Amino acid sequence: MTMETLLDILRKRRSIRRYKESAIEEEVVDILKEAALRSPSSRGINPWRFFFITDKSLLEELSMAKEQGSSFLRGAGLGVVVCADEKESDVWIEDCSIASIIIQLAGISLGLGSCWIQIRNRMHRDSLSSEDFVRSVLHLHEKMRVESIISFGYPDEDASPIPADQLEYGKIL
Ligand SMILES: Cc1cc2nc3c(=O)[nH]c(=O)nc-3n(C[C@H](O)[C@H](O)[C@H](O)COP(=O)(O)O)c2cc1C
Repeated sequence: MTMETLLDILRKRRSIRRYKESAIEEEVVDILKEAALRSPSSRGINPWRFFFITDKSLLEELSMAKEQGSSFLRGAGLGVVVCADEKESDVWIEDCSIASIIIQLAGISLGLGSCWIQIRNRMHRDSLSSEDFVRSVLHLHEKMRVESIISFGYPDEDASPIPADQLEYGKIL
């Protein structure tokens, strides 16, 4: 077996929204939990909370968090809701975002595909925010803010790595 470096993972990283039916093994989910808890956070406060959801009916319900851009969660083997107690840290958004990408990268190293579903600042319907929707599904206290849901599963689509010559080097100033 060859060792995959972080750079190898970054080079092939793409969002994956179609997943095989196969369940994600418990040991694999446990490694993702460890990765989440190893995420750095400002001042080491760790304001995040993670819901690791494999229950199909709950995933189906959460897939309706937004009108667009969340439906594929119903086909995922796992959804990780990344939220935080906003009273614990003024930079909970950064902390949750870092944890979200850390678990995505850890997922790739385990052969999983994933996609970020944005919840904060998004709407479920005209008058109901996606955050309120997720809070009501999971019975969360109002002080719990929801940044994202990361969907995971074994990939059932090929997403080509982005060639190096297509990177926007003009943005490096
Ligand atoms: C902060 C953030 C929010 C995102 N929200 C969504 C989303 O709600 N639904 C979705 O399908 N993809 C979402 N994505 C995935 C992006 O659409 C995707 O990363 C982008 O199109 C680039 O494609 P790639 O990840 O395959 O390189 C999000 C990504 C980020 C970083």
